[in-house]
Amino acid sequence: MRVLVTYGSKMGGTAGLADMLAAELVAQGIPTDVSDADSVGSLADYDAVVVGGALYATRWHRAARRFVKRRTAELRTRKVFMFSSGPLDDSAATTEIPPTRQVQRLMERVGAREHKTFGGWLPADAKGMAGSMAKEHSGDWRDPDLVKEWADHLGRALQESTAA
Ligand SMILES: Cc1cc2nc3c(=O)[nH]c(=O)nc-3n(C[C@H](O)[C@H](O)[C@H](O)COP(=O)(O)O)c2cc1C
Repeated sequence: MRVLVTYGSKMGGTAGLADMLAAELVAQGIPTDVSDADSVGSLADYDAVVVGGALYATRWHRAARRFVKRRTAELRTRKVFMFSSGPLDDSAATTEIPPTRQVQRLMERVGAREHKTFGGWLPADAKGMAGSMAKEHSGDWRDPDLVKEWADHLGRALQESTAA
């Protein structure tokens, strides 16, 4: 079994979550690759794909959306899991935040099995619209323990479905 973790990220926070997830899966003995959603090549080697998107105004970063839309047929024949990032507070660590409407639709489109929302990251020196938001909401709300917990859960789900 081989897993691809792919992501759409503007400022790097979601890319970091994808790296953390992949490292945890590898630590469980599951061969896993990580790639920006715009750079994914063939999916032939992968039994499962984890797609992550940064949330901007409740919508996923374009690269993640586009990946799911363009690769729908291939994704429908694989195990797909999705994650979003993320709230700039501790809400993702204290509650289970459901996918936004748009992400829910993407899940339905490819028959994704599960979704997880992780906290986000907004650097204090962000520019443009992100910069105005950073005046009040900057910080790193990505929780490595929560990522590990979900990765452990994913690893078990993948190994059980392979054994079945
Ligand atoms: C303009 C703007 C809009 C945002 N909208 C949302 C949102 O709707 N929901 C949410 O949970 N987080 C929202 N965020 C927080 C981002 O999702 C968070 O900063 C995330 O970690 C960014 O990911 P990236 O670094 O991979 O681009 C927003 C951030 C900015 C700057």
